[in-house]
Amino acid sequence: MKIRRNDLCPCGSGLKYKKCCLGKNGKANEDLEARYLKAHGIRLKKQKDIEGIRRAGKIILEIFDRMDSLLKPGLKTEAINTLVHEMTIARGATPAPLNYRGFPKSVCVSINEVICHGIPGERVLKDGDIVNVDLTPILDGYYADASRTYFAGSPGKDAEKIVSVARESLKRGMAAACPGNTVGDMGWAIQQYAEGEGCSVVREFVGHGVGFDFHEPPQVPHHGRKGQGVTLIPGMVFTIEPMINLGKKELRILDDNWTAVTLDGSLSAQFEQTILITEGGHESLTPFDL
Ligand code: MF3
Ligand code: CO
Ligand code: CO
Repeated sequence: MKIRRNDLCPCGSGLKYKKCCLGKNGKANEDLEARYLKAHGIRLKKQKDIEGIRRAGKIILEIFDRMDSLLKPGLKTEAINTLVHEMTIARGATPAPLNYRGFPKSVCVSINEVICHGIPGERVLKDGDIVNVDLTPILDGYYADASRTYFAGSPGKDAEKIVSVARESLKRGMAAACPGNTVGDMGWAIQQYAEGEGCSVVREFVGHGVGFDFHEPPQVPHHGRKGQGVTLIPGMVFTIEPMINLGKKELRILDDNWTAVTLDGSLSAQFEQTILITEGGHESLTPFDL
């Protein structure tokens, strides 16, 4: 879906698109910036902010590349934490998870029935495990946030299925990420697809604005209805990070107060990227291959 210059602006200002969100430095654009901040708490990103977030995103891509060869059966999850921590620091960045609301490590590592927020430690990867690695470096004050689910060794049928549905769920969400669409349009696209595959969408954790801080407005649910919620406009940066369960959507939190697992013990997988809304659609600031 492409907005033409003379169409009404999707932000609801009543102005033509070219006089509003499309305009780079016009007054209408300043009004819009103020309106999104006041009404939604959303801080739009400018060119220099976008470049900063993209540089933080590059660190994620480099670490993901190393994970490809590292994640083998027999590896302790603590070793993933060590590599992430060292690679992050070596690039002049800081791992945002470390000490975030008491989180004790530099990366979330979530295996099999763990939905998210797994704490690396003594657990050892086994053949056929699915392993989500979720990275958020802070570079020069800018945050980028992305995750992907890997296989340790050879996956079984169920593992193949849930990882494939989670990957495609993120793709469907991204396909709906363009100016004029709403947050609900993205959630709807994900939910329709994932439930159509017989899987379920986790509700308790959502995507989020990101860039100046770890978690900013708006919230980005991975379920929803068309047309619901905030209208997407150029300069918005947020994550899409659907957590998809092979069984039911319900979860419980372990005694460590972090680890979220499926209530029914079924497999769960996730892919996450940091997305910038542009005039023509979107751009990933953490563009690993999906
Ligand atoms: N990276 C997660 C997200 O996608 C948040 C992890 S919070 C932590 O939003 F404390 F567990 F690191
Ligand atoms: Co996130
Ligand atoms: Co994340």
